[in-house]
Parts: sequence; structure tokens; C-alpha cells
Amino acid sequence: MHWHILGAGAIGCIWAAQLYKSEHDVTLILRSKERLQQLSESQGIIYQSTNGETSTFNVGAELAENNTPIKNLLICTKAYSTISALQSVADRLSSDTNVVLLQNGLGPQQEAVKLFPELSIWAATTTDGAYLSAPYHVVRAGHGETLIGAISMKAQPSLDNIIPTPCGDLKITTSENIEHKLWCKVAINAAINPLTALNNCKNGILVSDTTLANKMQKICEEVEKIAAACGQDLFDKPLYEMARLIASTTAENYSSMLQDIKQNRPTEIEQITGFLCQQADKFECHAPENRMLLQQIKQLSSVTPPT
Ligand code: PAF
Repeated sequence: MHWHILGAGAIGCIWAAQLYKSEHDVTLILRSKERLQQLSESQGIIYQSTNGETSTFNVGAELAENNTPIKNLLICTKAYSTISALQSVADRLSSDTNVVLLQNGLGPQQEAVKLFPELSIWAATTTDGAYLSAPYHVVRAGHGETLIGAISMKAQPSLDNIIPTPCGDLKITTSENIEHKLWCKVAINAAINPLTALNNCKNGILVSDTTLANKMQKICEEVEKIAAACGQDLFDKPLYEMARLIASTTAENYSSMLQDIKQNRPTEIEQITGFLCQQADKFECHAPENRMLLQQIKQLSSVTPPT
């Protein structure tokens, strides 16, 4: 089974390494000749496991313009690049192609289904922790779980015939209601990420600082109401309690949005808080805290996502 992967960030590199390790054909689709050159210089993906051991996986790579058909495509780009990533290989896809969208946020998944109704599309969300210490050098920070579920009419409820489990050291589970899992992730990201980005603080400060904790509570209450209007009953406890728990267990981490801002990269605010504000408009929910966060993060971020 041959997998193509678009998006060679930390998660894309983990998947490429683990699929390769499980003896699948895997090809990274890279955006430039310079990126191809970098990969060949590092002789593949350098994978550092949680115990510090390093292995190199010599995965193949090509540019999007290559004209060979794609049977299985995993997209691990940032959420704002999902649609342009799909469009960059559109002429290589057919009604037999399986697409898995693994990213934060909500919105692009639904747009992909609308734009490409002939494809079998799944969405995924992960709690795996990883970062790149250099291009193609991925450090595994923690082992989580990846949930995958069908989101298009054509996709089968089960992915068993497509993604073999185990797949290297990845823990993959099929979800019957992936939309709900994506909502839960968006809700947590909306509670933690913009506040940490605006206040330039580690996640744990949202629990220890009373002013920020109160702010997080208000944000959570709004998000819960928006979710309920959309028919999403989030967790079996209040979102604020869940967000506090996650901020405490990741107390020493800098959220992905804060890291994006520090490194002068576009943020995923539109696919997180922006998505929630759109739903608030649609269902006439009161969401002043989230609307303010959306504006503040947009002002703070000097770079806008590519179109
Ligand atoms: O996006 C992130 O940084 C993480 O998913 C989390 C746990 C919400 C904050 O670190």
C-alpha cells in the first residue's frame, strides 16, 4: 500500500517514519527543489524516540507536479493550508483515492468534502507530541493517540483496510463520530491557545493566575454554548474543568499558537476561534470574549496565512 504525505512538519515526519518502518511505500510531497535537496542531505527522516534513540528512515520524496496517481494521501499541513494542499495534487487524485486530513481546527475538513465530493475523505486528530529540531529531524515528545473517522459520503466507517494497526509505534483508533472529537479538540485549543499567545505564557499560568483563569472560564462558557447550538455536547464535565486539567498536565508547554507567533508563522486562529465565531454568528450566540480574542490574535500576528 502506497501513502503520499503532504506536510513534512513534526506530525508528517512521524507518520512517514512509522509507515516506512512498517514496510509501507511512503513518499513525501515537498514544495520545492530546495526541500528535496535538504531531505537528501539528511539521508531521510531522522527520528528521535522518547528515550533519545535515533534512527534514520530513508523515505522517498517528490514535488506535487509529479504526475503519478495518488491512491492514499495523508495531509498534515497547518489547517489553513489544507485546501491549497489538496488543490496542488488535484490532478493526481481519482475516485479511488483515500484522503486523511490530520490537523487542528475545524472548517477545512467540511470545505474539502464540498470541493472534492468524489473522494473518500477521513478526518483525524492526535494527541501525539513531537517537534522538529531541524528540518526532517523529528523529536518524539510523547505518545498519544490518533483518532480517525469518515467525514465524506464515500468514506467507509472503518479504516481497517487502509491503515494497518499497529503502524510502527503509532496508536491509531477508528472513531464513529470524528466530528465530535474534532469539536472537543477545537474547544480545548480555543480555551488555551489564544490566551497563552496573547499573554506570552506557558499553559500552566492559565491555572495559577486568577485573572487569566477567570478569563479562560468565560471563554469556555461561550464555547460550550456555541457547541450546544451546533448540537455538540462536548465533555462529560464542564469545558472549563477539562481545559484546566489539560493546562495543568501540559503546564510547562508553550501552546502551538504561542510558538507560531514567536516564530513569526501564521496562526490557526481562523480555524479555531474564527470557526467558533462563525458558528456563533449562524446561531446568534453571544460570544464577545472569543470575538475579542480573534481580533487580538490577528493584530498580534504579523504574518497572514498563505491563500
Ligand atoms: O495546540 C496545543 O498547543 C495543544 O493542543 C494544547 C494542549 C491545547 C496546548 O498546549
